Amino acid sequence: MNSKLDYTVERVFENRKITENLYELEIQGDFEGIPGQFYMLRCWDMEPVLWRPLSIHHLDNKRIVFLYHVTGRGTKKLSNLKSGDEIKILGPLGNGFYIENIMKKNIAVITGGIGIAPMFYIAENIREKIKKDELLYKDCKLDLYAGFKDNAYCMEKFKPLVDNIYVSTERGIEGKRGYITDIFEPEKYDVVLCCGPQIMMKKVINMCREKQVTLYVSMENRMACGIGACLVCTCNTVDGNKRVCKDGPVFLGTDIVIE
Ligand code: FES
Repeated sequence: MNSKLDYTVERVFENRKITENLYELEIQGDFEGIPGQFYMLRCWDMEPVLWRPLSIHHLDNKRIVFLYHVTGRGTKKLSNLKSGDEIKILGPLGNGFYIENIMKKNIAVITGGIGIAPMFYIAENIREKIKKDELLYKDCKLDLYAGFKDNAYCMEKFKPLVDNIYVSTERGIEGKRGYITDIFEPEKYDVVLCCGPQIMMKKVINMCREKQVTLYVSMENRMACGIGACLVCTCNTVDGNKRVCKDGPVFLGTDIVIE
């Protein structure tokens, strides 16, 4: 897997506000990365000390896009960026989803909250693969299960990519009331891809284990260095502790030890 260990200084093309605290940062240029990989970003000098890891939300030969929630000082500073401002970026980093492992007949993507960010890029890749090799993949189905706390987002842009969208919100503002795991049926699928809060991922791991469905999870652990040096991001796997930033963030669901 390629990863550049030198950052580059880029210019923001656009930093779009989607809803309260939710932004889409677009940088134009020729960038690399497969779904599930991430970049470290920084638009400040000293404080906060750490770079901010953001997964690739969309990438084509002209641009890279990051979708992010404002959750702390780093993302607050990112949200203040204007078109033309400088930003340092380092990546692509980590191990992502390998499309060859995913192209099964019935595929489900299940997300919680901002966990939807990397899954848009994988959905784009799956749809592109289906279109490219129509004969081989004509029976492929791709469904999205997306859970949110309050309001749903990104749904319009998923519509052309997936066959069915199932939405839940905790108080029932949109879609089904409750958690997305309440309506998810893993036994309907050959492969499941998941990204979301830890509590939800644990549930999905257990559900898929029980039904013996292949699962890939994109772990969302806290990160510091992003390049495998500090061990802040480790998770427990059947092969011992692994670094989410370097060995992941994408792991086989069966490899994760649930604590
Ligand atoms: Fe430093 Fe993963 S964030 S090792």
